[in-house]
Amino acid sequence: MENNIEGNLEEKSLEKEGKYVISESSRSEFYVNAKKYWAKTPATVNGMLGGLGYINALDIQGSNYFLRELKIKDASKTCALDCGAGIGRVSKNLLMPLFAKVDLVEQDYAFAEKAKEYCVKDSGAVLGYPNRLGEIYNIGLQDFQPYVNKYNLVWSQWVLGHLTDVDLLLFFVRIRQSLISGGQFVIKENVTTSRQVEKDDEDSSVTRPLKMYETFLKQAGFRIVKMTQQKNFPKGLYPVYMIASRPLQNNK
Ligand SMILES: C[S@@+](CC[C@H](N)C(=O)[O-])C[C@H]1O[C@@H](n2cnc3c(N)ncnc32)[C@H](O)[C@@H]1O
Repeated sequence: MENNIEGNLEEKSLEKEGKYVISESSRSEFYVNAKKYWAKTPATVNGMLGGLGYINALDIQGSNYFLRELKIKDASKTCALDCGAGIGRVSKNLLMPLFAKVDLVEQDYAFAEKAKEYCVKDSGAVLGYPNRLGEIYNIGLQDFQPYVNKYNLVWSQWVLGHLTDVDLLLFFVRIRQSLISGGQFVIKENVTTSRQVEKDDEDSSVTRPLKMYETFLKQAGFRIVKMTQQKNFPKGLYPVYMIASRPLQNNK
């Protein structure tokens, strides 16, 4: 599988398919600019949501509903991973109430430090989880090498647009390998309606069409088990989709 993927990752072949908007030559600039953007963003829930802090409750509610429908057994709620975790908004509000340990991976140092406090302290009616915070990996997803066979659930939200196509596919493969048997991978991302990849130079990200995520997940050895659009977000935003996948039988 891995060998095929490496073979498929020829820059030219991706370009031919019209998938590739960031050439390998501008790869490092793409990552550096995203780092700079996030470094000047406040380490708050509002900052994580691009100034739309008021959608936090709706977002968590939609995710909770989606997760519940995945019917993860209590015995399989040992360990989860939150990718592109920021200050731990998703960890604290969605994953920690359900999973005994939650690891976070986040490239911004200030956010990763903030997460240590945000996830463990109560804030108003929202409880903190001092015993549930696992490892915090302060590294970009493009370089992150998770342990094999560790997680029951990997959640990745509003971060995949910061990866190039090549890095996204390789990241998906590593995540597949990090799942315990029966484990699931959920992505929650903005998608375009134009069927094209749309680039945002301000935060150095891309927004992809839904189909592209489906294709990459399949190429990485996943089978999609559930897909739902987030409801009731304000008008004018990109549609947001949650996609749950499991490793294909012969890959685990
Ligand atoms: C829109 S925020 C979302 C944070 C969190 N997932 C949430 O929903 O609250 C995007 C996050 O992705 C992080 N990020 C950006 N590029 C990244 C990369 N290459 N690897 C890991 N994290 C990255 C940013 O630092 C920021 O914390």
